[in-house]
Amino acid sequence: MAITAEKPPSRRGFLELLVAFGTFVSGAVMAIPGLMYMWPAAKGGGPARVEVDGAARMSPGQGVIMQVGSEAVIVIRGRDGFSAYSAVCTHLGCLVKWDSGRQEFLCPCHAAVFDKDGQVVSGPPPAALPPFVVKEVGDKVFVTAA
Ligand code: FES
Repeated sequence: MAITAEKPPSRRGFLELLVAFGTFVSGAVMAIPGLMYMWPAAKGGGPARVEVDGAARMSPGQGVIMQVGSEAVIVIRGRDGFSAYSAVCTHLGCLVKWDSGRQEFLCPCHAAVFDKDGQVVSGPPPAALPPFVVKEVGDKVFVTAA
């Protein structure tokens, strides 16, 4: 067996290695945001049963927006109790607002109008606002995802 001396790396070999390493790092840096985009988002959000903060101080006709689970929900105090509906418009997902003067939900994106029961009055939404379960326990009010 012959003993051979290792050849020192040539300048060309070193530069090729450097370019390959740089290409790999650049590719990895560009791929990370793409992979993060495709990775399923964690189901975030709060608890699925939430107490309505300040419910006792709400006057009839008033509404508040809150988060139940991962959903934005609008809770309305009516004359005979509370009701809650998803605040996400069934057309393209914009957040609707409760107009206490008109007693209607208004979607700012395409001018949709929903009545106080979440039913479509006008505009492009294909369906009513989904209701949420409301429970009154003493002077506390809880909203639960349906
Ligand atoms: S998103 Fe609400 S009307 Fe289009």
